[in-house]
Amino acid sequence: MDLTHRFAEYRALVTGGGSGIGRATVLRLLDEGAAVAAADVSAPGLEETRELASGAGTADRLTTTVLDVADEESVRDGAGAAVEGLGGLDVLVNAAGILDSAHTETMTLAFWNRIIGVNLTGTFLVTRAALPALLATGRGVVVNFSSTSAAFAHPYMAAYAATKGGIQSFTHALAAEYSKRGLRAVCVAPGSIDSGMTRAPGLPEDLDADLLAKLSPALGKGFAGPETVAGAIAMLASEDGAFITGTELRIDGGTHM
Ligand SMILES: NC(=O)c1ccc[n+]([C@@H]2O[C@H](COP(=O)([O-])OP(=O)(O)OC[C@H]3O[C@@H](n4cnc5c(N)ncnc54)[C@H](O)[C@@H]3O)[C@@H](O)[C@H]2O)c1
Repeated sequence: MDLTHRFAEYRALVTGGGSGIGRATVLRLLDEGAAVAAADVSAPGLEETRELASGAGTADRLTTTVLDVADEESVRDGAGAAVEGLGGLDVLVNAAGILDSAHTETMTLAFWNRIIGVNLTGTFLVTRAALPALLATGRGVVVNFSSTSAAFAHPYMAAYAATKGGIQSFTHALAAEYSKRGLRAVCVAPGSIDSGMTRAPGLPEDLDADLLAKLSPALGKGFAGPETVAGAIAMLASEDGAFITGTELRIDGGTHM
């Protein structure tokens, strides 16, 4: 199959497009022919993504938007302009997210709210803003970001894990609610992917290393690059994933089996 044209005539909005898995997804969808709007809170991150797209000769189909997914107004304006610029929307990838770790017994409400705000509320706000366009196209797909931490215990990450479990439930409800209108909604659940997030997971200094020991990939090659997840997202968002909705795809090198 010629993958260079799998997304020809497709329009995609990717949040978190300024780093890691979101950036790899932007570049992959561009490579496969899509017009892509990359959104991120980091302007320098988006600039770097643009440079990489330029190097690949695909930057002419890329637009970038600085927005904060946790801020209702910023999402309304930023996502609205991005979708308008694309002239519609077929694929939404909600990759923006933050990870921070803490002992639950001393976790502050501000810490909890910050993570819920970006990961869970941010996924809701961007999805809500994109839904009219995704429903109008008749082949809309939402790819949300869960994590292995949603279904498997990760110590010190209670807030993060709660957002990822919530995103899975949100995605299932979305898939059911709009299934008759041609919308698919799926989650990827990555683990052990090399990115800005996993290089600085903010683990407490006085952690119990035994509790973290089981969090390494069984495949024995260490962490994988973000392109690994981008390839799976491209499959899920394309016609190859046409019969897949309301479910998760775990991509963690067998860390959890
Ligand atoms: N790397 C992994 O192993 C792993 C595992 C499970 C889940 N995930 C999920 O993958 C997704 C992508 O993360 P990544 O690993 O590429 O990390 P990353 O830190 O490299 O990328 C996250 C991006 O989100 C952006 N972002 C953060 N807050 C934002 C906000 N308020 N508004 C807009 N953009 C914001 C950041 O600027 C950054 O560009 C996240 O949802 C993360 O939870 C990653």
